Amino acid sequence: MTDVVEGIASVGISGSPSPASRSRALLGAALAALERRGIATREVDLAALPAEALLGRSTDEQVTDALAAVRRARILVVSTPVYRATYSGLLKVFFDLLPQDGLAGKIAVAIATGASLGHLLAVDHGLRPLLTSVGALPVATAVYGTDAQFRDGRPDPALIEQIDRAVAEALALVISPVLA
Ligand SMILES: Cc1cc2nc3c(=O)[nH]c(=O)nc-3n(C[C@H](O)[C@H](O)[C@H](O)COP(=O)(O)O)c2cc1C
Repeated sequence: MTDVVEGIASVGISGSPSPASRSRALLGAALAALERRGIATREVDLAALPAEALLGRSTDEQVTDALAAVRRARILVVSTPVYRATYSGLLKVFFDLLPQDGLAGKIAVAIATGASLGHLLAVDHGLRPLLTSVGALPVATAVYGTDAQFRDGRPDPALIEQIDRAVAEALALVISPVLA
């Protein structure tokens, strides 16, 4: 597998403003799973980027660099808390900076956490359409965790299993000759 995936880059985008973020913990687990399979990873923490540039009011080297990393990546892992029944505003403003079809040809893994299962469909009604609106191809398995599935910031095994399945699906698509 390592030979096949050599040179393939992935970027994880964290859309939570929280310093002790559950969705970011899941993102970290997904990036670790990709690394174990030989994929180079990089994490972009949107909360650490300057707000003025994220809002498009100014340019900033860090934001330009994050957009360039996304452009180079073949796999994107996108994580967000559910805010007001959908993805976070932080994630939205970053996606607004992408050009039309800016994620065309990229495989995406969608991750969200919410207070309860009540907004589980935020992944299918919000996050997936956000990804496909700029051309990304989300894998079938989306990851959704509730706050009760975390102990001391660590996700329960069921969530890790979901992440592993989503990552395996992303790799299957990446090595598919049809999508090359
Ligand atoms: C401003 C705000 C809005 C929220 N809205 C929702 C919501 O609509 N539905 C929900 O299930 N949880 C909601 N939550 C709870 C978070 O989605 C949940 O705690 C999540 O796990 C936080 O992820 P994070 O730790 O990565 O920031 C909200 C939390 C905040 C702070």
